Amino acid sequence: MKITVAGTGYVGLVAGVCFAEKGYDVTCVDVDEKKVEMMRQGISPIYEEGLEELIRKNNADGTLHFTTDYKCAYRDADAIFIGVGTPEMPNGSANLSYIATVSRQIAETVEKDCLVVVKSTVPVGTNDKVEQFIKDFLVHHVKVEVASNPEFLAQGTAVHDTLHAARIIIGTESKEAEELLTKIYEPFGLPIVSVKRRSAEMIKYACNDFLALKISYMNDIANLCELVGADITDVAKGMSYDERIGARFLNAGIGFGGSCFPKDTKALKYLAREHGYQLKTVEACVDVNVSQKTRLFEKAKDRMITFNGLKVAVLGLTFKAGTDDLREAPSIDNLKLLLAAGADVFAYDPKGAERAEMIFPVGKVENGTMTYVSSVGEALDKAHICFVFTEWPEIKAVMPVEFKERMHTPLVYDGRNLYPIEAMKEAGVEYYSIGR
Ligand code: UDX
Repeated sequence: MKITVAGTGYVGLVAGVCFAEKGYDVTCVDVDEKKVEMMRQGISPIYEEGLEELIRKNNADGTLHFTTDYKCAYRDADAIFIGVGTPEMPNGSANLSYIATVSRQIAETVEKDCLVVVKSTVPVGTNDKVEQFIKDFLVHHVKVEVASNPEFLAQGTAVHDTLHAARIIIGTESKEAEELLTKIYEPFGLPIVSVKRRSAEMIKYACNDFLALKISYMNDIANLCELVGADITDVAKGMSYDERIGARFLNAGIGFGGSCFPKDTKALKYLAREHGYQLKTVEACVDVNVSQKTRLFEKAKDRMITFNGLKVAVLGLTFKAGTDDLREAPSIDNLKLLLAAGADVFAYDPKGAERAEMIFPVGKVENGTMTYVSSVGEALDKAHICFVFTEWPEIKAVMPVEFKERMHTPLVYDGRNLYPIEAMKEAGVEYYSIGR
């Protein structure tokens, strides 16, 4: 069985590598020559635990290939997985141009019957259109079917999530397609849920938006906890024992970021509106998240006369720990506000500084300045105020007394609830967190 994967972002690359790991002959296609060359040399273009090792191993085994030559890669593939991006359009809808480009290339090159499997997150009904589009442009007399197979991996645990997924969702319109996709996933030994194509597409959005809703709900409750004198971490703990609620995704904080939740909540909201329906729950979830992201900044603004000329320590830049990704990270919204307000920001992040520098270059930015440091200590030294945006272990490990001793003024705004309130108080730190 020959498998081709289009797109080597998080979804495509991890899928390709995992299929190779399961013994398939896999070719990954990308338009970016530099990136393809890197991967051929065993270098992963993204930081993801275990990924680079698997790329190297399967490159050496000869089961994994990288190319920009899509014609060769698609021509005789049994299955082509599409894992290209579906970024957000200015109006919140999903941009399907990459999907369209790949679909057309497939139509113009496939020379034998094949199954096209859409892994990218796409609005409900897109797979029907992809199938029709491919049929419209087919050059050779072959049968091409389209299946939906949404991906549920989370960044930071992508390889593990793929090899040990809770379930594989397969959305097909024919018995043959269902059987082929089931066979491809057989070596993974995972539960398979087989449904129609549109339901599979909806499952992906329903899952992501449900998780995002859970977070916004906890953030909403956390904000109320502050007003009524309850502690959200205790509240979450109490809730977590109820199996109907579940123990995960109950952490209140600085709001969700990343490449999925922000985009997928807006996309579903848009899809509903397109169909004349207002998805009120998801719309509320988006609204709560927008204000949550800068809640701590607003609080700090009320406490300070000015940020102008103050040394502001920023601990954590990525949208969560375990990744170098900054997409939709709450840190971005806060840095914009801090720099506009004239702050001298000293930021520490173990993986995200390089990407952050592309958005906020070193030196003068707006009315403030931006400096990246290589340790928590350097960020804290003589700082007037500290913001915590990401729950990296080394940031979590900071002892309350370090804030007191290193900072000019021990004033900490923690968007991840990382430190015990009592210990911070005892150390003499003025400490604000979320919902406690
Ligand atoms: C998510 C989904 O988990 C995954 O199944 C889907 O395929 C893609 O989107 P990811 O974006 O990588 O994965 O990260 P995730 O761990 O889900 O976190 C998303 C955001 O929510 C992060 O900003 C995180 O900090 C935040 N979050 C998560 C909370 O604020 N509280 C929580 O309890 C959990």
